[in-house]
Amino acid sequence: MEAMPTSIVEARARVKALREALRRHEYLYYVEAAPEISDVEFDRMMAELAALEEAFPPLRTPDSPTQRVGSDLQEKFPRASHSVPMISLANSYEPAEVEAFHHRLERLLGREPGAYVVEPKIDGVAAALRYRDGRFWMGLTRGDGRRGDVITANLRTIDELPLEIDDACLRSAVGDSDFYEVRGEVYMPTADFAAFNRAREEEGLEVFANPRNATAGTLKTLDVEEVRRRPLHLWAYSLAVPGPVALGSHERELHLLRELGFPVPEFERVDGLQELLASLGRWEQRREELPYAIDGVVIKLDDTSVWPTLGSTAKSPRYALAYKFAPEQARTRLLSIEASVGRTGVVTPVANLEPVELAGTTVSRASLHNQDEIDRKDIRVGDTVIVEKGGDIIPKVVSVVLSERPADSRPYRLPQHCPSCGSPLYREEGQVAWRCLDAACPAQLRGRIRHFASRDAMNIEGLGEKWIDLLLERGLVRGIPDLYRLDRETLASLPGWGEKSADNLLRHLERSRQRPLAAQIYALGLRHVGVTTARQLARHFGSFDALRRAGREELEAVEDLGPVIAASLVTELERNGEFYDELRSLGLLQTTEERVRVPTESALADKRFVLTGTLESMDRREAKRRLETAGAKVTATVSRRTDVVVVGEDPGSKAEKARALGVEIWDENRLLQALREAEARA
Ligand code: IVH
Repeated sequence: MEAMPTSIVEARARVKALREALRRHEYLYYVEAAPEISDVEFDRMMAELAALEEAFPPLRTPDSPTQRVGSDLQEKFPRASHSVPMISLANSYEPAEVEAFHHRLERLLGREPGAYVVEPKIDGVAAALRYRDGRFWMGLTRGDGRRGDVITANLRTIDELPLEIDDACLRSAVGDSDFYEVRGEVYMPTADFAAFNRAREEEGLEVFANPRNATAGTLKTLDVEEVRRRPLHLWAYSLAVPGPVALGSHERELHLLRELGFPVPEFERVDGLQELLASLGRWEQRREELPYAIDGVVIKLDDTSVWPTLGSTAKSPRYALAYKFAPEQARTRLLSIEASVGRTGVVTPVANLEPVELAGTTVSRASLHNQDEIDRKDIRVGDTVIVEKGGDIIPKVVSVVLSERPADSRPYRLPQHCPSCGSPLYREEGQVAWRCLDAACPAQLRGRIRHFASRDAMNIEGLGEKWIDLLLERGLVRGIPDLYRLDRETLASLPGWGEKSADNLLRHLERSRQRPLAAQIYALGLRHVGVTTARQLARHFGSFDALRRAGREELEAVEDLGPVIAASLVTELERNGEFYDELRSLGLLQTTEERVRVPTESALADKRFVLTGTLESMDRREAKRRLETAGAKVTATVSRRTDVVVVGEDPGSKAEKARALGVEIWDENRLLQALREAEARA
């Protein structure tokens, strides 16, 4: 975590950066099911944001990621509202935090909290299962917590999910209700996941990074038959509607779910804090034996009758706490370091490891990120290293066991020339990555084609890494456009191919021309343009031609797109003109999207301003006029309701009053910047 800023100005900048990053990572996690950072890193950022908002209350807004749960909503499924919000759990990592949880309950209840139930925190995807008249009738994802995607048909494919339950038994246990809702976690067991991924790899399909992503991706698949083929399983953990209050105990709630035919994982009921802490250790030990991934345990107060009185924060109930385990680690030897060239030319050092068992899979490679990271950890070939897995296939090297370092080891240096094409590597100022700048570099081309064919891009099934390499080796493909010039005969004669695979690939290539504009933009692999930005560009411009014509200013008006990215886009779009023309002549980049102009409300709208002191660039009247045009209100006196006081030269007592009241203070530059931003959007 970074040092706590001392001024609100500094804090605001950090809060903004954290919110943007958290929103992006939430999107990657919930919607794309392809997170880029570990849960632990995500939680750390969230904790930092919460601490800043705590220290600077004016910065707390209802739309902050600290105030809501992330969203997995997608446009392809119908939506329905949750009758009880699907909120999240508060996280803890240290026994001390569990103690604090216990004492907080003690304080809130005014007595000993009594028994707890400790159950595995399964690393899967939450689902809400609704039953009416004893029949499974509707199933939802968590969505944004208030509304979820309706994925009933996909959930029906799960064998363990009871399609019928004993309605009378439920009624007598918890009373009448229009419908009953059971919540639980859909997951993929570790071994099934590994086999599933292996099969995908053999078919030339992209692999999933971890069981959770594979589960999320599967649940959001539109082809039910495909879902049925995938190894989804279910654990139930709550009767959310009408709630377990009538049962008086969470243990009874879990027993009732079992009686009704739901799979319920093993759990432990413990009495008091000491037993609770001991139980955490036991679970951590057991973790490796479990046939599915857990990232910790969930501690729930057993006495459900007080759950409603304890209530919840905006994000999590007070009766429960998640206790997350440290990521699993293993020790192994680093055999060699390979410099791998990606599609953008960045050279990434990758460690080849002596194969070692870790969290249910065999690990033989780990990313070392970059030279700085290697220097910082002083990682050398021949070292014994500690590797860690944050739930993903690609683990990382955490540290070196120095006592076991061979006497003749030497620090590692990345090569100075591209291992693929031999051209010299460069590093831009302020960046950690070394790059190969040769546009014709074969390794970059390989990376670009892989990216182009990938799931979120052109989704060319049947064009896995193995086949891409073969096409490149044979010289059949020298650039992306060549993919669309491949013919059936040549393909069918390739080793390992036949008419069937040739037809299959050609069909997918054909189909890819109709990919949504956003996917095609993403496929181009423009710098800084991930799935989200590609989607925003597609919505904003509606067609690739319109995007190509856009100048910097118009690009800057796209939601979340800053000047740096806008500038880099302009350059790149200009430079590659011929390439785009070629793609268009092959029938690509032709799809259009309905333009959505997101009404971007000015950041100044409805804010109350007070001006004090002399401004250099304009007089006060002018400042007032511009602020009001941007939707702000300008008043004469500072009060608690004032949002911002703008302080010029020789300010009066208003500045002091603002400081005393903790009102935000801007200088002239900050004002000018905000006005320019607001005026650019208008
Ligand atoms: S209880 C009010 N129990 O963890 C939330 N959740 O971080 C009640 N999860 O959304 C959730 N195992 O997807 C509960 N035994 C368990 C769980 C569990 C996994 C997931 C669930 C939830 C998330 C919260």
